[in-house]
Amino acid sequence: MDRRDFIKAAGAAGVGIVGGKLAATTISPEQTRRLSTAPGSAAGLRAPKLDVVRLGFIGVGARGSGHVAQMQQLDGVEIKAICDTHEPTCMRSVKRCADAGRPAPDAYTKGPDDYKRMLDRADIDAVIISTPWEEHVRMCVDTMNSGKHTFTEVPAAYTVDDCWQLVEVSEKTQKHCMMMENVCYGREELMVLNMCRLGVFGDLLHGEAAYIHDLRGQMHEVERGTGSWRTIHYTKRNGNLYPTHGLGPVAQYLNINRGDRMDFLSSVSCNSKVRAIYAKKNFPPDHKWNKMRFICGDINTSIVRTVMGKTLMIQWDEQLPRPYTRHNLIQGTRGVWAGFPNRCVIEGRSKSTDQWDQGAELRSYFDEFDHPLWKRVANDPANQGGHGGMDFVMLWRIIYCLRNGEPLDQDVYDAASWSVITPLSEWSVANRGQSIDVPDFTRGKWKTMQPLGIVS
Ligand SMILES: NC(=O)c1ccc[n+]([C@@H]2O[C@H](COP(=O)([O-])OP(=O)(O)OC[C@H]3O[C@@H](n4cnc5c(N)ncnc54)[C@H](O)[C@@H]3O)[C@@H](O)[C@H]2O)c1
Repeated sequence: MDRRDFIKAAGAAGVGIVGGKLAATTISPEQTRRLSTAPGSAAGLRAPKLDVVRLGFIGVGARGSGHVAQMQQLDGVEIKAICDTHEPTCMRSVKRCADAGRPAPDAYTKGPDDYKRMLDRADIDAVIISTPWEEHVRMCVDTMNSGKHTFTEVPAAYTVDDCWQLVEVSEKTQKHCMMMENVCYGREELMVLNMCRLGVFGDLLHGEAAYIHDLRGQMHEVERGTGSWRTIHYTKRNGNLYPTHGLGPVAQYLNINRGDRMDFLSSVSCNSKVRAIYAKKNFPPDHKWNKMRFICGDINTSIVRTVMGKTLMIQWDEQLPRPYTRHNLIQGTRGVWAGFPNRCVIEGRSKSTDQWDQGAELRSYFDEFDHPLWKRVANDPANQGGHGGMDFVMLWRIIYCLRNGEPLDQDVYDAASWSVITPLSEWSVANRGQSIDVPDFTRGKWKTMQPLGIVS
């Protein structure tokens, strides 16, 4: 068997949830090396300027309700409609708008497909989607096909085909499809991006990204809320289920899709232990969490090599008892930045390359390299401070770009290539860590797309 045949034969591994049912995730060379079927390009996509951005929301639970609250603080925004299958949840966000003295948005609460009725409206320009993972793709696709821009929560998709679908529909409709990776707008992440662009670390060689966050407590949300749907994923899939918070900023440092691209990935998971232990300790023996088998390894580690010869390590762990980290590490020929806690070494600047600059010693870095966008926006009195202020900077920037007809900082190619780590890691885990090609969603445009600028 040659490598292509082998991948095909071994491809029937890993699982995805489609329409609430289990479906085998097969990844064939055709999927990883697919050629264009859609006309047009979404590279550097500029949409006509919008004087006022008229918004609809789908899903206003823990995350979406925060977006509604924060969007109300921005100039040039009108919230026209809110859809959530859970009426009390929907009405809480509707009331919040009315209480703020804004016109009350129309509510759409008549079941899982009622968002389509909202999409029929002609007075909405863009839709913000904060529903469970399994709903993102169909909602993004329907939104773009209805002539509206779409902004989805993370991850955008978790099958290879779904990633391609987002790319092709955005290219065909010429509508933005942005995955709202808020971490790209964190203070440290923006500053490190600025330092990368200024060449402070020399030539970049290696990055490390992670989402390591003990989320076992979400299992107490049994009937509604994040844990009620997210917990199911740990029983069906084994890989990196949430790659984008760590990866997004590191991919931007490394100019992924803008001068480089991810070439291939290998992934391994350790055993799954701690969710079963948690379920046993916290729920009665006949509780549904105790009847399910958790198969997602407690720690997943993936490694990637890029076409231009850089390496990336991407880790995931949503359950072990330990402090939070996203690693946020970038290393080049002259130095290294690492996060959690922040620390840095620059040859010629630091006292020694044996010892981290950290704590108060980092003040001079912030004085010199803080990103102009952060300096301009983060201290706006309207910033309600979600995730240390990054949420506001992201939403501010989205609205700015839409009102000024500017390309967005994260496009559909980023959404696809950051999200596709999930199905590729599932495949590799199921195949003894063998490497698998990362699809080139840009279909060669990465060679000419320009690195993300340092905007103010
Ligand atoms: N970027 C971040 O920092 C961040 C933080 C938290 C969550 N998230 C992401 O946000 C998304 C939502 O997570 P959450 O924690 O808010 O979950 P949640 O369960 O609290 O909210 C989801 C909401 O979607 C609604 N919903 C489900 N199906 C629907 C449908 N067909 N039509 C309309 N509404 C529907 C539910 O009723 C619920 O109110 C996920 O993708 C998650 O990964 C991102």
